[in-house]
Amino acid sequence: MIQTKIILFTFLVFSILSCKKDKVEVINIDQEMFNLSQGTTNFTFYKKSNDLLEKGSGSGHNYPFLKTKYNQIASTMLDSNGKVKENAIFPEGSLIVKELYNDETTIGRFAVLYKKSGDENADAKGWIWGYINSDKSVAVAASQKGGSCISCHSQSGNIDYMLMNAFHP
Ligand code: HEC
Repeated sequence: MIQTKIILFTFLVFSILSCKKDKVEVINIDQEMFNLSQGTTNFTFYKKSNDLLEKGSGSGHNYPFLKTKYNQIASTMLDSNGKVKENAIFPEGSLIVKELYNDETTIGRFAVLYKKSGDENADAKGWIWGYINSDKSVAVAASQKGGSCISCHSQSGNIDYMLMNAFHP
């Protein structure tokens, strides 16, 4: 009897462990977008400045302060002042991260645009739209393909959907 119990118990523990392992191996797109957006190494800030900016008047992002940074690929589309070049089309692999601040020191959320054409979560222009809180909870899932973002980011003055130049000239 006791042997049977031990065998059953061992089996149960193994099942639970292998289940957990499966979950750890699958990194979903929102978590990937979060991971990509951490840190400052290899990023260039908008206007080459690490200063906090006040959110733009027409911003759909309800946080008082922001900073926007570009990875090395995306930063090839910045001019000598660190603003986005007119008529720029960002190349594949471009990553643009807006850090949204609750106050002058605390990041509350990351708004992330990653160009990866052909990805199942990419929109028609190849952008994946991530919106993730600093505690890693998902604010708007990337699988929505920017459904709640694109109409605002298509307004006049946008450059390949980017609005920094229009709102922070
Ligand atoms: C009602 C308008 C509006 C909506 C909706 C909106 N945004 Fe924005 N977004 C802005 C504005 C304006 C800026 C410029 C910076 C600022 O002042 O906030 C911006 C900036 C950004 C940036 C920095 C890059 C750039 O130059 O635009 C990212 C990344 C971004 N938004 C992602 C998103 C995502 C993801 C969503 C949807 C979940 C979204 N936005 C929804 C207005 C909007």
